[in-house]
Amino acid sequence: MIIEKIDLLRKFLKEKRQSGLSIGLVPTMGYLHEGHLSLIRRAKKENGVVVVSVFVNPSQFAPNEDFDAYPRDIDRDYKLASEAGADIVFHPDTEEMYPPYSNTFVEVGGEMTKVLCGASRPTHFRGVTTVVNMLFNITNPDNAYFGQKDAQQAAIIEKMVRDLHLGIKITVCPIVREASGLAMSSRNKYLSEEEKTQALVLNRSLDMAKRAIVNGQRNSAEIVRMITDRINKESLASIDYVSVCSYPDLIAAEQIETRTLIALAVRFGKTRLIDNIIIE
Ligand code: PAJ
Repeated sequence: MIIEKIDLLRKFLKEKRQSGLSIGLVPTMGYLHEGHLSLIRRAKKENGVVVVSVFVNPSQFAPNEDFDAYPRDIDRDYKLASEAGADIVFHPDTEEMYPPYSNTFVEVGGEMTKVLCGASRPTHFRGVTTVVNMLFNITNPDNAYFGQKDAQQAAIIEKMVRDLHLGIKITVCPIVREASGLAMSSRNKYLSEEEKTQALVLNRSLDMAKRAIVNGQRNSAEIVRMITDRINKESLASIDYVSVCSYPDLIAAEQIETRTLIALAVRFGKTRLIDNIIIE
């Protein structure tokens, strides 16, 4: 079932909760792929009712970003989500989520929203935490599912849940990749064949870094240099950042000692791709 109105969704979920079913939420911006579907399948295993939200959230896009161009196909999304185990696809329009004059934001403070993607997208995470908080308030889930593909986003949402005592269990699911190794993303649709081939460098350079660490390399700057050199060999690639930091607090460290995130963002033409690995 597709529900577009907040009131209707609340009413539906209230009945489910009263009959003792747990609620799992999978927030998405749609144009679903296997990465999203892996979260939905996981949610289905662990909950009585699964809600998948499909909402391209304007407040997390800067004016110069791809909000208008972001791919949308609700009929396809509804079919895929239902097959993967969604009971409800929540598909509100912008006015439903942001009525005129709505002007309240939820923002995680400190450095973790300012580094990595936050450096080039200064208002992005405020938009994400605001809409995710709205979705939490609307659905009141027991469990919510996010992907490691957006590792910084997952860390920030976990922090928001702790700081605001939201009492929702957050599960972070592994990155799903194409057979080629390219991390699945709704934005891969924008890539030309040539860009798609060159974009394999994201995953390959991360693998190379992992091998270096397994072989004893502990110097973060060396890892960053190695990845940067590898990516710069691709003619169409333009690096936004390559970062080595602790996970989940996202603090840069000279030496790799604790659980470490290696994350990168690279532009191919107008398309900005991200990828990462976490080294335990
Ligand atoms: P979206 O990019 O649609 O992603 C929805 C969820 O799917 C996120 O938790 C993301 O990390 C996860 N995901 C995307 N690609 C994945 C992959 N290849 N493997 C595993 N998981 C993957 O992230 C957002 O939407 C938005 O910021 C949102 C949280 C919905 C707030 O608007």
